[in-house]
Amino acid sequence: MKNVLLDGTLKPYKGNFINVYSPIYYQGTQERALIGSYPDMTPEDSIKAIKAAKKAFNNGKGEWPSMTPYERINIMNKFLEGLEKNKIGIAKSIMWEIGKSWDDSLKEVVRTIEYIKDTIKAVEDLYKNKNIKSVNGVNAYIKDTPIGVILCSSPFNYPFNETYTTLIPALIMGNTAVMKLPHYGVVCHYITYQLFKDIFPAGVINVVTGDGPNTLKPIMETGLVDIFGFIGTSKAASTIIKYHPKPNALKLCLGLEANNVGVILGDANIQKAIPEIISGCLSYNGQRCTALKVLLVNENIYEEFVKEFSNAVDNLKLGMPWEKSVKITPLPEEKKPKYIEELIDDAIQYGGSICNKKRGGIIDRSIVSPIVIRDAKPCMRVVKEEQFGPIIPIMKWSSISEVQEFVMNSNYGQQAAIFGEDPDLIASAVDCFVFNVGRVNINSQCQRGPDVLPFTGRKDSAQGTLSVTDALKVFSIPSVVAIKSKEAGLF
Ligand code: G3H
Repeated sequence: MKNVLLDGTLKPYKGNFINVYSPIYYQGTQERALIGSYPDMTPEDSIKAIKAAKKAFNNGKGEWPSMTPYERINIMNKFLEGLEKNKIGIAKSIMWEIGKSWDDSLKEVVRTIEYIKDTIKAVEDLYKNKNIKSVNGVNAYIKDTPIGVILCSSPFNYPFNETYTTLIPALIMGNTAVMKLPHYGVVCHYITYQLFKDIFPAGVINVVTGDGPNTLKPIMETGLVDIFGFIGTSKAASTIIKYHPKPNALKLCLGLEANNVGVILGDANIQKAIPEIISGCLSYNGQRCTALKVLLVNENIYEEFVKEFSNAVDNLKLGMPWEKSVKITPLPEEKKPKYIEELIDDAIQYGGSICNKKRGGIIDRSIVSPIVIRDAKPCMRVVKEEQFGPIIPIMKWSSISEVQEFVMNSNYGQQAAIFGEDPDLIASAVDCFVFNVGRVNINSQCQRGPDVLPFTGRKDSAQGTLSVTDALKVFSIPSVVAIKSKEAGLF
């Protein structure tokens, strides 16, 4: 992709480019397939992007923020038509860039289209009735108004969907935007550059590509960003936020790290639970912030669970993302396989052992076969770090107070999953997570969807809440015009 989209113009970039390599290798070689390149934008380019977004907002008087919600919805509907026409191309690109299975790549695009449709519906509902309140002799008119400019930055694992999860609600409420795209997952956006240019007023959406120090840092340093919509690591978020000259003035919507726990109660139906737990741990190779990352299994069923779970993991199909019913696919991050090997060594050093017969590990360059580690302990790196890969530590517990202690000591608090049958046992497990996580799932894996549910977390896992309706509040501010009623008198 040779173009940049800045201030309503889509022009070939004059500077340097960064190559994008697929996690899939050219057949019979040690070489990753080259699938494109993107502009390595400079600090000057990035500053142009944020200035263009600020100009398009023009303190709420720009063309886009001045439109009625229905005018913006009409434009968004045109964008939707464009996405529908291009969904196969976008999904193919996701598959090649990040190695996501074909089914999941297509789902990512379809889910995004549905998310936009639901957002449109939610905006229609929001503005259906004039929000007028008469209270204590005051008549007030309340209108949700845009805030300004959003900088949205998304991770590689949902490069398309999670970019739009913040971008779309921000736009539809009348804000303008700079999108910073991730290194793995940039190519899938190329098709939409043209749609943005053709459909939206100039400067409403500006796209930035390149490394963080050249792009996000100078953008933040201008002090022109009003909202930071970020999905990624906690460390990156806090570094970027600090570049803003007035970080306290910045509105934040952050989806950060997690290390979600699966609690298996003593009466869990193992056969029923295992497929759900495997999907929770290993969908897209465990590269989801909502993945189950640590399994805490009651001592009464520990041995049986470890055996059955390990066998089921060994039966997962490994292969290329386009193969039918493939579950484990190539990992895009080049350093990830080595990192996983380090975690295994560390776990073994602290008394853990690999319990699946296939053992797992690097089997073909970027493909890592899943590893199940029994006798895991809280001190192990695989338990403490958000490892984002196909490795599953299992710990044994005898009293629910041990689960409680583990949860309280974690820095993360996104979600949890509880598997069991007896309602009282389930309730005592749920108690461990109240005030510690954003969502508890019973007999089901952790997940963000359905997208109408609030997606948030506690501790280091999130700031702000996303969902189809919550996001509309995140990206707007109520403006109130209040007048004393005649009966109340003016003074
Ligand atoms: O990686 C983090 C995503 O928000 C996970 O979303 O639960 O829909 O896979 P998901």
